[in-house]
Amino acid sequence: MCGIFAYLNFLTPKKRGEILKTLVNGLKRLEYRGYDSAGVAIDSACSKDMALIKKTGKVALLEEEIENRSKELDMDRIEDIHCGIAHTRWATHGVPSEVNSHPQRSDYAHSFVVVHNGIITNYKEVKVFLQNKGYKFESDTDTEIIAKLIHHFYEQHPNYSFRELVENVVQQLEGAFALCFKSKHFPGECVATRRGSPLLVGIKTKTRLATDHIPILYGKDDDPQTPTDADTNSEHRPHGRADYPVLPRSESTSEFEPLEDKQVEYFFASDASAIIEHTNRVIYFEDDDVAAIKNGALSIHRLRRLYDDPHSREIHTLKMELQQIMKGNYDYFMQKEIFEQPESVINTMRGRVNFETKTVTLGGIKDYIPEIKRCRRLMLIGCGTSYHSAIATRQLLEELTELPVMVELASDFLDRTTPVFRDDVCFFISQSGETADTLMALRYCKQRGALIIGITNTVGSSICRESHCGVHINAGPEIGVASTKAYTSQFISLVMFALVMSEDRLSLAGRREEIIEGLKNLQQQIRAVLQLDDKVKELAQDLYNKKSLLIMGRGFNFATCLEGALKVKELTYMHSEGIMAGELKHGPLALVDEDMPVMMIIMRDPVYTKCVNALQQVTARQGRPVIICEENDDETKAYGHRCLEIPRTVDCLQGILTVIPMQLLSFHIAVLRGCNVDCPRNLAKSVTVE
Ligand code: F6R
Repeated sequence: MCGIFAYLNFLTPKKRGEILKTLVNGLKRLEYRGYDSAGVAIDSACSKDMALIKKTGKVALLEEEIENRSKELDMDRIEDIHCGIAHTRWATHGVPSEVNSHPQRSDYAHSFVVVHNGIITNYKEVKVFLQNKGYKFESDTDTEIIAKLIHHFYEQHPNYSFRELVENVVQQLEGAFALCFKSKHFPGECVATRRGSPLLVGIKTKTRLATDHIPILYGKDDDPQTPTDADTNSEHRPHGRADYPVLPRSESTSEFEPLEDKQVEYFFASDASAIIEHTNRVIYFEDDDVAAIKNGALSIHRLRRLYDDPHSREIHTLKMELQQIMKGNYDYFMQKEIFEQPESVINTMRGRVNFETKTVTLGGIKDYIPEIKRCRRLMLIGCGTSYHSAIATRQLLEELTELPVMVELASDFLDRTTPVFRDDVCFFISQSGETADTLMALRYCKQRGALIIGITNTVGSSICRESHCGVHINAGPEIGVASTKAYTSQFISLVMFALVMSEDRLSLAGRREEIIEGLKNLQQQIRAVLQLDDKVKELAQDLYNKKSLLIMGRGFNFATCLEGALKVKELTYMHSEGIMAGELKHGPLALVDEDMPVMMIIMRDPVYTKCVNALQQVTARQGRPVIICEENDDETKAYGHRCLEIPRTVDCLQGILTVIPMQLLSFHIAVLRGCNVDCPRNLAKSVTVE
């Protein structure tokens, strides 16, 4: 949901053209987070002003605009110290347009500019306050109030540091945000902060830093405090007062500890994929960290210290490789990610499933297993595709744990204020680890004392950090907005959990062995399914100009119907519905006639006969379904319908194989319809707003 990128070079001479290229490339890496407009702010080439370049549409258009203005931007001039900020937007407040895109500015003179991810919920109140002070607004965004509010504080307290001004601003903001500020009053400085929206900084030095930590500086006194109502900030709001009270000054120059290497470059970004080509040394910020760079030194500040707050932030070394976030020989990221599944499923199991001893170890939750076994119920919570992975594995979890398993959409779970108890175990499934609804549901359950387990693909994400324990699915970066390999890896992670929970159950030993054997064969079976690509492409030719596609199945394959329909909808903009075959006669059968495209998943599993019944109900209404069935299943093929045959595996793993033809189908239909495969309209990869 929007991408922030900022670049600061200190005593590292760079041509302005290089600086702009770094900023634009950073945005390209983040484009999957939002892509309806983009912008950058750099210092002006000829005055103390700033150059703001903004464009509606994709980052490539911004790049073109920069190219067109290259003369005025003086691309060859060298800057020894410079700060530039950039943003790619997914519109929430105000339509995609240049004036609504970021950076947003404080005034025509560009005193302060800001880029923002997230939503400011009290922006109307702050806007009225600022309008009463004479500020004129030009955009429909919530973000503009931030640029104007910092200007207001600056006018009142011109002796405050940049960091202090930002601290005063965030005191007044409600909602979720990650922010990066630049100011012409503080050249060569950058201040960034976050609350509820991800942000990290990459640090690049010529020599490897000796330190692995950056100390955190706390405001007020340094005594740890227990949280109080004041920590909600409400005492600081004006509520009818004439002005916002400001925080007392606290800065001393010593707080900026210069790094031992004076030549340094900093890269702020919403996620690591934008940074990895520059450095693998990063710091993940926590909510309410205010990070400031001044004279090439980074300081991290927090207003008050609570009891469990740490003294420093660690500099992590990213394990990600650049090639993982490139398209390689593929035309689309989604296509690459579908074809990566033979490897990604192995990475999910690596070091966890021992095929010789037939044992499974999940290091991240090992110590919690006794507690989990004593729980009252398991709750699996997620959104979209992540939610479907929970549906896909519920039946196996019920079978192997013998516990009640609730599967919940995070948004609905919160709407219902669902009762949660101390002896509940709650799983939060999320590729990005940042989905706002899932994160809020996590906090809701944590407050009620439940054990929180994160199942995520993003190390250092909010869900990772806020869980008591978890399983990292290790699928590798997923850039295509439509989730594919993360789904199959989430699926396997939950299957591995079910296996761990049943390891001492003698009565289940045979079943466990059969599943572990199934996991062993998955890689080569996924390869076999991917061989169907040409056949699926032919099917896509027949379907791409239809209006609708119904996908029917039940039991272990119902989740594939939901997930397949979601893929078709989001990528092709065609209507599609995943239908539980048992529900056909309760309504959906009315949709079926000779013109309605139907796909059915019919496997030789315990619900085979019921699926064949559904097939007969459909064909009796002149439906002509395409069937996904098991290889060499002559009985099903004898019904005479077009079939996509996939290898046989154990029933509870079949969904991993049946979903792949649906991923391929949605991909090919999208290409044939001329849709933007990696960046479907109206969507973004990481949904950090409710
Ligand atoms: C669909 C898709 C979305 C996400 C959903 C949750 O292809 O990608 O439905 O699955 O937005 O996202 P995460 O898993 O990041 O929490």
